[in-house]
Amino acid sequence: MNNRYPPLDYVPQHVGVIMDGNGRWARRRGLPRIAGHRAGTENLRRVLGAAVEFGIQVLTIYAFSTENWGRPKQEVEGLLSIFRRVIDREVPKLHDEGVRLHHVGRIEGIPADLSQRVREAIDLTKDNDGLVLNVAFNYGGRAEIVDAVRQIIADGISSEQVDARMISRYLCTAGQPDPDLIIRTSGEMRLSNFLIWQAAYAEFYTTPTLWPDFGKDELYEALKDFGRRERRFGLVPGAPVTD
Ligand code: FPP
Repeated sequence: MNNRYPPLDYVPQHVGVIMDGNGRWARRRGLPRIAGHRAGTENLRRVLGAAVEFGIQVLTIYAFSTENWGRPKQEVEGLLSIFRRVIDREVPKLHDEGVRLHHVGRIEGIPADLSQRVREAIDLTKDNDGLVLNVAFNYGGRAEIVDAVRQIIADGISSEQVDARMISRYLCTAGQPDPDLIIRTSGEMRLSNFLIWQAAYAEFYTTPTLWPDFGKDELYEALKDFGRRERRFGLVPGAPVTD
């Protein structure tokens, strides 16, 4: 690490990113929206490298929500093509870098060829011990909770056994730490159904920068800002956090 990025006092274990603003980035340049998604994809590569360098252990990216299917057909098709290409081209490299890929969201409802690629990528990287990259694709926080509740009922679990820990174990992020920090680009101040259970005590960082322009410097700024926050988890300042 060079002097431009002095070591951080406190690095969040798990960072969630709402990669917003691809469309506006393209429009400002007189380009079609899909050009913004392509630029956003290239940026993801850069941010991923920076996340590894800064010591983030789990990165969850909001790639495609359950609501995004309602976008114009051409844009949805364009995004699906990008995902196919990214998996084919990037997964072998990510595997070499020790990244462990994980899908969050409903695998059902994803076109069969793509869901097959996703399963293969997860299987290929399952024993890696580097950064965990959660790709939220066909993801919605409410749908995730609905699926968890259905599965809890299907498993015959009694109401007395249900508590917050159990629900967490039935979510797509089971076994992972909750996100400490959620970053949203393009200035919006909403969670938009992203990790709504897991982000209960996450710190929120928003920046007017559009996703394709959100680089390593700004990730570093977000992490620095996070390090200055006082996290209370509903307690009073200075009180120890107990489980
Ligand atoms: C939000 O910008 C962005 C998306 C809905 C898609 C995010 C996808 C990528 C960055 C592609 C890379 C991901 C992977 C996993 C390869 P927007 O279209 O809502 O922008 P706008 O608000 O300016 O219209």
